[in-house]
Amino acid sequence: MTPVLFEKVAFIGLGLIGSSLARVIHAKKLAKLVVASTRSEKTLEDAKALGLIEAGYTDAIEAVKGADLVVLALPVRATAHILSTIQPYLNANVILTDVGSTKANVVEAAKAVFGEALPEGFVPGHPIAGSENTGVHAGKADLFAHHKVILTPLETSAPWAVAKLTQLWKAADAEVICMDVQKHDEVLAHTSHLPHLMAFNLVEQLASREDNLDIFRYAAGGFRDFSRIAASDPQMWHDIFFSNKKSILDAVDGFDAQLKVIRRIIEQDDSQALMGLLEHAQAARQHFNHMLTKKTVMENVSVTQKFTILPKDHQFKGTFSIPGDKSVSHRSIMFGAIAEGTTRVTGFLEGEDALATLQSFKDMGVKIEGPENGHVTIHGVGMSGLKAPEKALYMGNSGTSMRLLSGMLAAQQFDTVMTGDASLSKRPMERIAKPLRLMGAQIQTTGEKGTPPVSITGKQNLKGIQYDLPMASAQVKSGILLAGLWAEGETSVTEPEPTRDHTERMLRAFGYEVKTEGNRISLVGGGKLVGTNIQVPSDISSAAFFMVGAAICKDSDVTLEAVGINPTRTGVIEILKQMGADITVLNERIAGGEPIADIRIRGTQTLKGIHIPEDQVPLAIDEFPALFVAASCAEGQTVLTGAAELRVKESDRIQVMADGLQAMGIQCEPTPDGIVIEGKGKTGNWDPIFKGAEIQSHHDHRIAMSFSIAGLRASEAITIHGTETVATSFPTFTQLTNEAGFSIQTLD
Ligand code: S3P
Repeated sequence: MTPVLFEKVAFIGLGLIGSSLARVIHAKKLAKLVVASTRSEKTLEDAKALGLIEAGYTDAIEAVKGADLVVLALPVRATAHILSTIQPYLNANVILTDVGSTKANVVEAAKAVFGEALPEGFVPGHPIAGSENTGVHAGKADLFAHHKVILTPLETSAPWAVAKLTQLWKAADAEVICMDVQKHDEVLAHTSHLPHLMAFNLVEQLASREDNLDIFRYAAGGFRDFSRIAASDPQMWHDIFFSNKKSILDAVDGFDAQLKVIRRIIEQDDSQALMGLLEHAQAARQHFNHMLTKKTVMENVSVTQKFTILPKDHQFKGTFSIPGDKSVSHRSIMFGAIAEGTTRVTGFLEGEDALATLQSFKDMGVKIEGPENGHVTIHGVGMSGLKAPEKALYMGNSGTSMRLLSGMLAAQQFDTVMTGDASLSKRPMERIAKPLRLMGAQIQTTGEKGTPPVSITGKQNLKGIQYDLPMASAQVKSGILLAGLWAEGETSVTEPEPTRDHTERMLRAFGYEVKTEGNRISLVGGGKLVGTNIQVPSDISSAAFFMVGAAICKDSDVTLEAVGINPTRTGVIEILKQMGADITVLNERIAGGEPIADIRIRGTQTLKGIHIPEDQVPLAIDEFPALFVAASCAEGQTVLTGAAELRVKESDRIQVMADGLQAMGIQCEPTPDGIVIEGKGKTGNWDPIFKGAEIQSHHDHRIAMSFSIAGLRASEAITIHGTETVATSFPTFTQLTNEAGFSIQTLD
């Protein structure tokens, strides 16, 4: 039972949203007195009759006198006028909020009335709930239940006011999230304002045709579903479209461009492109469904859009258990699925990438239990037990899922399409499609530049090949070897440099013979895998952020337990050691076929710049963004060469890191295959290295985490945008950094 929160609540406007909130306040007895002001006396009479308010006024001034909560629940364009009317009569400690769909204009209106020194109780808000019905009778006490309410606290907003409003909305069973004003308006322009605009416009298009009566008479469910929201309140939407003009026009331009794409595809009879587009959209919609119903087991993980790190005396200390290895987690599901018998996995990484793999195998009929606390049980279906998925497989952000599955799916008896998010949709897939074609696979990369969606035609008889890998890529190597499991004869891959060998090790753990002779790895098709138990070690790639953090932070002392130290992954330790970091590898042992150890790093001395040996590049391929931060804090120059692969990761990691480091005051020069960084460190000096900046992570998880770590040595605030993808590989990142004494503020 929520206690009484307010003495007197005044609603200005009492339509659908206002009256629904009044119903909640009434039902839960959250205020001693509720009053309202509206222009319509009839509304006030009805509200009284419904028992929603104790008193009603046509004059807003009367309503707000003595109120400790004032809710503006009227069309957004009326805000400035109403605020100037009520301003002289507001209590000093009043909480003043609104429920409008746009926020920048509400803040502007408030500034016009109050000046820059806005009242500390002013916290704009927006419940993401509604209906096409309007008016006091349309309100419902459960309108907000299980819906989101966005609060957009300003710098002037007092935490007590935010806390009290949060309590109010939680009492309405809503989920409260905080966002900044600009972000709110951008997001809503795409997710709400554009669809409404399209609905109004479509109905208008049809209504203005001469045969409109016929069209409406015969309009089927699609029109009904799509146009439902065009029955919404015109005055309200009129105000919203003007109030959020800039963001809405951006969204309309995006729509316009996309419309041209599909128009062109249809005009040119491009069946493949059309299928690709439709399947991509369908898969993305299904992915949203999963996310919305929280089926993705991500309930406890806070996925946030923005990190801010303030300059403070941060600490970096403690013993930590870093989440499971992403590469090993993916493979445990894939191999468990095609094995005979049951596979039990512990330490599974409950990050979005590995969950995309897990979901794909569920979509292909594999029974998988979990993950629950890192435990997954896979009931293998054997080499010929996978079933045709009903829809395109959605790989989210995960290149590993798409490339390894390309190999597996090329050998199945059914057709498949794989799609991904915006980042994955730009990544090169021909590198795996080409060798698979040589094996006899029918595989197409249907994106514009050899990019996803990937479309595979099943029922091909694959033949083993001897393939010289043109680039050092464990994903391509693995994709070929996996296709080789079903191929006739021997399949071999020769790599230019050793890359991570989790596929080889794990296939052996599942009882499949794989030969490694120097850089040549081979297997013979036609065998079978037998279910086993897999213990996933902590991910050294995630641990790298903590290693670099400790190496650049004075007096830090961090121990990372049970981290995978597979020799094909330990480049980061070697490179940091060469830079002079104080790292010790303790308790080396084997777990589940992979070597693991505890790693202790202390901030005892300034790092020094080095020329990174090229043979270490594939062994530290995912750790370079973090290592660039280390290099910036080192004394002298660090040079990286032979790392062109970094340009085709989740983002162009050379360019994106260079842009961010330069914004933070670091002199660095990107090159086609690496970077030159002028470290700003000085022996024995632990002063800040980085100046404040706003960083774009380009939705790349490792970029976001690397710049976060730089915050340990920043003289001013650092804000990193696009941090939601951190959940793909290290869902507990901010939780663990906070435990270490390094505070990262998160914002949805
Ligand atoms: C991975 C291989 C690497 C790595 C990725 C995971 C794997 O990619 O960057 O994060 O699990 O095989 P490439 O094979 O493209 O180098």
